[in-house]
Amino acid sequence: MLKDTRIVLGVTGGIAVYKAVELLRLLTKAGACVHVIMTRAAQEFVTPLTFQTLSSHPVHSELFNLIAEQEIGHISLADRANLFVIAPATANVIGKIANGIADDLLTTTAMATKAPVLIAPAMNVNMYTNPIYRENEEKLRRLGYLFVPPEKGALACGWEGEGKLAAPETIFEAIAAALRPRDLAGQTVMVTAGPTREEIDPVRFISNHSSGRMGYAIAGAARQRGARVILVSGPTGLAVPAGVERVCVESARDMQAAVMRHVKECSVVIKAAAVADYRPAERKGDKIKKQAAEMTLTLVKNPDILAELGHLKKHPFLVGFAAETSCLEEYAARKLAEKKLDMIVANDVSSCDAGFNVDTNRALLLFKDGSRQDCPLMSKDELANRILDEVVSRLPARRNH
Ligand code: C5P
Repeated sequence: MLKDTRIVLGVTGGIAVYKAVELLRLLTKAGACVHVIMTRAAQEFVTPLTFQTLSSHPVHSELFNLIAEQEIGHISLADRANLFVIAPATANVIGKIANGIADDLLTTTAMATKAPVLIAPAMNVNMYTNPIYRENEEKLRRLGYLFVPPEKGALACGWEGEGKLAAPETIFEAIAAALRPRDLAGQTVMVTAGPTREEIDPVRFISNHSSGRMGYAIAGAARQRGARVILVSGPTGLAVPAGVERVCVESARDMQAAVMRHVKECSVVIKAAAVADYRPAERKGDKIKKQAAEMTLTLVKNPDILAELGHLKKHPFLVGFAAETSCLEEYAARKLAEKKLDMIVANDVSSCDAGFNVDTNRALLLFKDGSRQDCPLMSKDELANRILDEVVSRLPARRNH
């Protein structure tokens, strides 16, 4: 996944240094070539030998180490990096970088590099909330430095609060995101996600098992790749991905109104929502009372939003989803044609490791030109990027027509 990427990992002195070891392991496992720079204080917590062994490269720490100078030179570390990550980053090192101080190898490299810099702070909660620190972080953010915020929890110093280094997996995700190409810059992508709720009376509704995770993963990934993202979401318990504009809706008809309101702004629409196909013919104003042993509910068809989009004279690049429990390819191919889509993501929701309410998915991608692609079991974040890879590769060709 990170094959052929060169990462410089800066490690500064804090009790969380041990987590940087785990981060290094994740990076090398993903195929990255990692060079580690440690400050003197960091070496008080974990020896360079640990980092050296796991990175398969000598650890750098001295600015004026002649042997290292001869081999690579301290500036070349900065030049060769695709990304410079500092984890854990102390208040001290963040303060130095924010103020242009370069008095050791790590801060010199930070100042000399043209690569994006990703900082994962770790410190005592009072340091983290200190206005001087806040100003330094704000300044760096304004200048385009990336941050992985620390977590809340019990801190090594005995205090409780924000300041705990983010989990290695979280930092790894942020690294992968920072290295992703911004190939959707300039595009506006609309994603629909989650279930819809069709009200029966003031307390009851018809819905489905959709968690919204696939759509939210696509929205987050599209944003990371530089798009403006409008996420039209049915009710879910999920947090809005950073930088994404969310429009909350309840019913299929609400969703239809929101989608149609925004479609003109969009070059891509990805409909990952599990829209209810039917709604009660009538919504009762009062709660329905329990009476006879049986009751009949009359349902009427909801608008098919995706088909409506497909039939627009000029429509954006359209991606639909087909959640099926049988005859996956046949049904998906039919939908692709009938709804006039550019692409459809078909998944079998009857298996327990794919589809609704799980973090993984496997899918079959079908395209308007008749081609197909199998995506084996992978995380929804990974699948989101696979889907976007296809969208990106097909967008320019479409514009030339
Ligand atoms: O035909 P079916 O409902 O299975 O198609 C699924 C695809 O169509 C999904 O992408 C879903 O978001 C979209 N859809 C829609 N409006 C509906 C029903 C489904 O946009 N009323």
